[in-house]
Amino acid sequence: MSTSNVVPNDLNAFWMPFTANRQFKKTPRMFVAARDMHYTTSDGRQVLDGTAGLWCCNAGHARPKIVEAIARQAAELDYAPAFQMGHPKAFELANRLVDITPDGLDHVLFTNSGSESVETALKLALAFHKIKGEGSRTRLIGRERAYHGVNFGGISVGGIVTNRKMFGTLLAGVDHMPHTHNLAKNAFSKGPPEYGTELADELERIVTLHDASTIAAVIVEPVAGSTGVLIPPPGYLKRLREITKKHGILLIFDEVITGYGRLGTPFGADYFDVVPDIMVTAKGLTNGVVPMGAVMVSAEIHDAFMNGPEHVIEFFHGYTYSGNPIASAAGLATLETYKEEGLLTRGAELAPKFQEALHSLKGLPHVIDIRNIGLVGAIELEPIAGQPTKRAFSAFLKAFEQGLLIRTTGDIIALSPPLIISESQIDEIVTKLAGILKTLE
Ligand SMILES: Cc1ncc(COP(=O)(O)O)c(C=O)c1O
Repeated sequence: MSTSNVVPNDLNAFWMPFTANRQFKKTPRMFVAARDMHYTTSDGRQVLDGTAGLWCCNAGHARPKIVEAIARQAAELDYAPAFQMGHPKAFELANRLVDITPDGLDHVLFTNSGSESVETALKLALAFHKIKGEGSRTRLIGRERAYHGVNFGGISVGGIVTNRKMFGTLLAGVDHMPHTHNLAKNAFSKGPPEYGTELADELERIVTLHDASTIAAVIVEPVAGSTGVLIPPPGYLKRLREITKKHGILLIFDEVITGYGRLGTPFGADYFDVVPDIMVTAKGLTNGVVPMGAVMVSAEIHDAFMNGPEHVIEFFHGYTYSGNPIASAAGLATLETYKEEGLLTRGAELAPKFQEALHSLKGLPHVIDIRNIGLVGAIELEPIAGQPTKRAFSAFLKAFEQGLLIRTTGDIIALSPPLIISESQIDEIVTKLAGILKTLE
């Protein structure tokens, strides 16, 4: 089948996620193929992937090992029941994940998405305290501007108003720390910004307000991605670790974006040298190819559940597709690809080039901040008065027309290219963006 001019005859039935449906359906933007760093559009154009799909295709597209592994697995064992039955690849993948996660995170629960991984982590935290005889620890602490997926637990600890305000009272007993984004003090920082470590002490204020005996867990993204790349100052996450430890509160890192090499280290925990009690991952786990998430937990948490009669289920939680054979095969092939090509640390080699290229956009019209860490970057634009998001969305549309995929959130352009990107492709992204910024209203 030719990949050009493939457009469905009716776009109405599919209610698209997080999309301006009416705008899209008037002028659809369709991808019909992808390979390495490029997508192919339905009208046959090549589009450079500046966002690794949705922060997930860290090894680029249509990587042979992953494609072959999925095909082979589908023919060999397509599905095995996830409850009370097993298949070897899920165990193998869990072992390979434990090999690359920070020491101390020794057990893995599988899910199908970042959102489900978040719910799993929050439920684990609550159940852990209950099992330990501290059932009064029911509060969950998130952060303003956080994104933890779209399920009820995730939007409750999340801090993005549009994702929360339509959905009632959400979970009870949730509080939020302030975010760390401070344009006045930190604009145009290269790498982690200087100011704001003391914002971690807000957790002490929350503990004083509610008492530690009521708090189960704190969840944070090491770098907040979806809300526009908010990078913590050095020491901030370490301080959160100290405070949570002191008060017996579990620390959950949501590494759905920062995991699998995005910051130039295997995980954000490695970059910031802080080991949480629970780590939430998804996206890059299978290179985005098959939906899958993984939640890594400490032996202390795992072992607390391994009590009571052996025929009784220890944790009443799981999904029909937890550790699905095809997803597990994709995950194993993805980890092999990362290993063979050094992708879990390649971001560190490219980060200086990426940083200099991005910061060369300083001074262009509307640009009020540029920030970066590993292979994540953001360009924040001054919003059009009274029309927030319009300017960045217009940049997104122009970029697509010019063969570049970027992501925008609010008036922030976010970049997170596949970790296989070349230096000349970094230049291509920045050259195109410079041209676009000059033409924006
Ligand atoms: C930090 C974080 N957590 C959770 C999620 C939700 O993941 P999913 O869309 O796979 O449910 C995302 C998605 O972008 C994310 O960035």
